[in-house]
Amino acid sequence: MRVGVLTGGGDCPGLNAVIRAVVRKGVKEHGFDFVGFRDGWRGPLEGITMPLGIEQCRGILPRGGTILGSSRTNPFAVDDGVQRITDHLADAGVGALVAIGGEDTLGVATRLAELGVNVVGVPKTIDNDLSGTDFTFGFDTAVNIATEAIDRLHTTAESHHRALVVEVMGRHAGWIALHAGIAGGASSVLIPEIPFDIAAVCADVEARFRSEYAPIIVVSEGAVPADGSGMTLQSGEKDAFGHVRLGGIGDRLAHEIEQRTGKEARAVVLGHIQRGGTPSAFDRWLATRFGLQAISAVADGDFGVMVALRGTDIVRVPLAEGTGELKVVSPEEYAEAQVFFG
Ligand code: F6P
Repeated sequence: MRVGVLTGGGDCPGLNAVIRAVVRKGVKEHGFDFVGFRDGWRGPLEGITMPLGIEQCRGILPRGGTILGSSRTNPFAVDDGVQRITDHLADAGVGALVAIGGEDTLGVATRLAELGVNVVGVPKTIDNDLSGTDFTFGFDTAVNIATEAIDRLHTTAESHHRALVVEVMGRHAGWIALHAGIAGGASSVLIPEIPFDIAAVCADVEARFRSEYAPIIVVSEGAVPADGSGMTLQSGEKDAFGHVRLGGIGDRLAHEIEQRTGKEARAVVLGHIQRGGTPSAFDRWLATRFGLQAISAVADGDFGVMVALRGTDIVRVPLAEGTGELKVVSPEEYAEAQVFFG
């Protein structure tokens, strides 16, 4: 059988490790051959392919990004999108598709599976906000990068008696902020799930200064103030899945902290640094195991499923379970971290 592979949505470290594992096991154990679809759903939508075999996968395990390219193309937002995809899959002789992506890419996979396309999903996102799996790959690398940044910011903030605000990614879920904030000893962690009170943040800033130590405030890009003023947007522009581009909450917060406390405050936006570069060992391991299990699902003819991590096991769950509802930080888990604030 010929198997198609695509990677969609925001890239993340570990995508290439999945592709390598899918291809290696698919060729060696099942005698499959492969075709790569370029740039997420744009590949099958427009019939853009590339050769994909063991040769193309050599040396890619530690490489960030994706050799297949990625995009946020939504075939359901395009006239005849589904028909064009099924036609192009048939033209390429593809009997099954492995779709590697987050809520949007796998949301498309869920709907296509319902329409009879043979698809298996692999969950990726640095945001770690997909339900059905304990972790997505890419998250561990992003948390390590953010933690290293916080460690470095502590020493310069202390030297200059400044507050530093670190803006991390996380549109709807504050997992990166929470994990990196705990690991890095932040004075406050602000996440999209829990609207923040600026007066409480400033009280934490002042308490941290009193301890002769410098405040580091970690904020998710999607965090919102409790005063109802809403999210901070970079522009009103929306992508094909209706997401606005976030960014700027760090600057807004730094300005407000300076005004209210009289202490100098600056913002650092980590942005795409969290997504680029080599995956951590954990992400390489998780991505590889996801890839191995995804191609086993294809070989078993078990379509409409997503591979998922449960404890230390890789299991299969219905695609709809992974994409139906986002996995967000619970108030209890957030409250656990609050003992370190201030
Ligand atoms: O979904 C992953 C993610 O990195 C989010 O954390 C972030 O909001 C978004 O992608 C940024 O997307 P883009 O790279 O398209 O600006």
